[in-house]
Amino acid sequence: MIRHARTADHPAIREINETAFGKDDEARLIEALRANGDVMFELVAEAEGALVGHILFSRLWADRTGLIAALAPMAVWPGHQRRGLGGRLIETGIDTCRDFGAHAIVVLGHPDYYPRFGFSA
Ligand SMILES: CC(C)(COP(=O)(O)OP(=O)(O)OC[C@H]1O[C@@H](n2cnc3c(N)ncnc32)[C@H](O)[C@@H]1OP(=O)(O)O)[C@@H](O)C(=O)NCCC(=O)NCCS
Repeated sequence: MIRHARTADHPAIREINETAFGKDDEARLIEALRANGDVMFELVAEAEGALVGHILFSRLWADRTGLIAALAPMAVWPGHQRRGLGGRLIETGIDTCRDFGAHAIVVLGHPDYYPRFGFSA
């Protein structure tokens, strides 16, 4: 199940990011974006009562008139990777960005992974 993240999910989101990236830079980025009020929304993937994936979209201050979203970071618990969960988080995130009225999404990430969801260099 993919749903919006709640405050009670924050410790599990930190753990997923630290474990998937093997460092805490991304967890600290998430906390800084929250503290600065820049988060548009966060989605989590839940399986059997546990959180196994996370994606965050923030407001990118690049355009005076239109809303542009930044996708970062995203992480899937290592034991659940390569089962399509990351893809479902991105697709649900793109749909949700449309609901928010965003007219573009920017991602800094793996050049082989994101084009399959419509991103281009
Ligand atoms: C990237 C990540 C979120 C993908 O999640 P996932 O649930 O495995 O994604 P999916 O199952 O939808 O897709 C799997 C595809 O991702 C690709 N992929 C995963 N990690 C990749 C990487 N580092 N570089 C390029 N492609 C990658 C795989 O090639 C796979 O494609 P294939 O099965 O056709 O070979 C997950 O691997 C992860 O958490 N990685 C560590 C953190 C990270 O790098 N986050 C992205 C920051 S830009």
